[in-house]
Amino acid sequence: MLKFEDLAPQPKSGFVPAAAAADSRFTAGNAFRRVTAEDKRVINSKADLNQLVPFKYKWAWEKYLSACANHWMPQEINMSRDIALWKDARGLSEDERRIVKRNLGFFVTADSLAANNIVLGTYRHITAPECRQYLLRQAFEEAIHTHAYQYIVESLDLEESEIFNAYHEVASIRDKDEFLVPFIDVLTDAAFRTGTPQADQTLLRSLIVFSCLMEGLFFYVGFVQILALGRQNKMTGAAEQYMYILRDESMHCNFGIDLVNQIKLENPGLWTPAFREELQELFRRAVELEYRYAEDTMPRGVLGLNAPMFKEYLRFIANRRCQQIGLETLYAGAQNPFPWMSEMIDLKKERNFFETRVIEYQTGGALNWE
Ligand SMILES: [Fe+2]
Ligand SMILES: [Fe+2]
Repeated sequence: MLKFEDLAPQPKSGFVPAAAAADSRFTAGNAFRRVTAEDKRVINSKADLNQLVPFKYKWAWEKYLSACANHWMPQEINMSRDIALWKDARGLSEDERRIVKRNLGFFVTADSLAANNIVLGTYRHITAPECRQYLLRQAFEEAIHTHAYQYIVESLDLEESEIFNAYHEVASIRDKDEFLVPFIDVLTDAAFRTGTPQADQTLLRSLIVFSCLMEGLFFYVGFVQILALGRQNKMTGAAEQYMYILRDESMHCNFGIDLVNQIKLENPGLWTPAFREELQELFRRAVELEYRYAEDTMPRGVLGLNAPMFKEYLRFIANRRCQQIGLETLYAGAQNPFPWMSEMIDLKKERNFFETRVIEYQTGGALNWE
């Protein structure tokens, strides 16, 4: 937290504790010298955090610019076809309705968890101003996502309390959130400080859980399901909202992975064999939880999808996340049963999505919802 003491002049010489370094400091007087790029560190920096430049972490700044260029708002998307379909008793099967409701039940609160994790936790502990700039943008995007899910709930006139309480009341959703919450709580704990190997590993572990397992794995069964509805020309407004969210989330995930890799580079001692093993165990557990969620949301085959296909998909994604942060992969030979999803993610829609989306959907071959 920003405290008054942190704004006060620091001693001219002597150790500046990591606790203070993690906050926004302005140091006055001759204890102070101009910041150089070499002074900057992603964690435990002692440089003035109020100076965005000189840039050191250009990848973070570029992601910030791309994210701003992708700005969108939920109300821009027309939901009238979705509303008509939802109201039509024969418009959707019970299994399709279950998918929509479970999906919203998970996501309406997941993105609030994500926002709180950034604002009340991660942000305080990241000491590179370029990365903080991206996190500020990301936090706003999480607000937009919560808004989008709420907007779908409102448009379809769903029972709000049922959807917003699903994370307490639906076991497959609650289990995912219960897995995540301890990793968020540790960062939002006011007493938590980085600056020791153990504390730095705690931060790194939470960053990995958040980017690779929450944003990078727990969102994907839901994304596939709603986009599969869209591919069948159903719930196309909701599917379009999810397209924009998927684009944002894949950037969040990539930013988180870049952040993790930069911290590893600057603090190689943190990446011990025991730590890596512990991470792999978390990956296995997350795959299991997300698979249980897939089974719960799809008790039968629906939309050409079924739960076992997701087992393979989740293993494929988990392997990919492991590779991205330099962990041994866990599931030999896992293949992607939904190549159309990777087309969507790999379309590099970070720029000019609004202008190019029709063309991209046509070249994607299966996503023409217009
Ligand atoms: Fe989000
Ligand atoms: Fe996110």
